[in-house]
Amino acid sequence: MEYSTLGRTGAQVSHLGYGGAVLGLTDYLYTFDPNDPDDRAKLFEGIDAALESGINLFDTAPGYGNGASEKVLGEALKGVTASGGVPLFVSTKVKSGAEVDVRESLERSLERLGRDSVDLLQIHGTSYSPEDVDRIIGDGGTAEAMLQLKADGLVRNVGFTSEDNNDGVYRLIRSGLFDTMQICYNFIFQHPYEPSRPFGSLLEAKKNGLGVLTMRAPTSGTFQRWIEMVNPANTFDYTPALIQFVLSNPLVDVALVGMRDADLVHKNVAIVENTGGRISLDALHERYV
Ligand SMILES: NC(=O)c1ccc[n+]([C@@H]2O[C@H](COP(=O)([O-])OP(=O)(O)OC[C@H]3O[C@@H](n4cnc5c(N)ncnc54)[C@H](OP(=O)(O)O)[C@@H]3O)[C@@H](O)[C@H]2O)c1
Repeated sequence: MEYSTLGRTGAQVSHLGYGGAVLGLTDYLYTFDPNDPDDRAKLFEGIDAALESGINLFDTAPGYGNGASEKVLGEALKGVTASGGVPLFVSTKVKSGAEVDVRESLERSLERLGRDSVDLLQIHGTSYSPEDVDRIIGDGGTAEAMLQLKADGLVRNVGFTSEDNNDGVYRLIRSGLFDTMQICYNFIFQHPYEPSRPFGSLLEAKKNGLGVLTMRAPTSGTFQRWIEMVNPANTFDYTPALIQFVLSNPLVDVALVGMRDADLVHKNVAIVENTGGRISLDALHERYV
């Protein structure tokens, strides 16, 4: 397994991270039931396989099945302190908004995870409006509450997550308040990194010392569904190439991928370990006009 230093957190993290959304969301990509004993057993086998393969970063959120993902991780990671000889790195999230008590949300997460602290607490975001950012970084905002938790030793680092790559993301990066950014970046959503200009929040995050996690490397199935729609006869497995695309970007510290069973973990670990499968993003983006 390859490891990177996650920006100013200084933590060593596996290049392939375990995406915990699939542990709790029942109607997410394909239907599955985390309460079905067979489905549940597969989740635990998958997490064990991840630990055996040296994956040390596990990402979850209270929003993944109303705490279900955090509970599964808490059970599966009980007593585990390291993976691949590297300390375990557990990240969770908190929603931002007037109705959310940040401390209470984290305390519930810690209970479900069975931990005294987490390595990273991230704002669970989708798209940030200017008003959202004002509320987050302003006096008495979400960031202030998160930094107090850091000062109290309940979280080691703070970050934010975003599906979008708009102005709000750049303001959050430049605020200097956050240690990490988690952003949607994949073959069909390349706005966070445009090498030919060059431009993008991946560059901005690195410039400001933030660690970079990406979500949805296999495009959460969208690219594969598009191929099925336009050419059902095409049975080529594009997922390895989609994951390699994200790993080919040196600005990416961790590619989070959802893996519901041990087979998928083994498949994806083999992809990450096949460093010969990386491509040159500059060559891919070369243009003649
Ligand atoms: N706003 C946010 O904070 C946010 C939003 C989205 C995601 N995330 C984070 O990013 C993680 C990853 O994103 P995601 O789970 O949405 O999407 P994803 O990783 O793009 O997709 C996961 C799905 O891709 C399929 N897959 C994975 N590896 C494969 C392979 N080698 N071959 C074929 N299929 C493969 C699996 O589908 P099947 O299960 O059907 O086999 C798996 O459930 C999340 O778990 C979460 O930690 C955060």
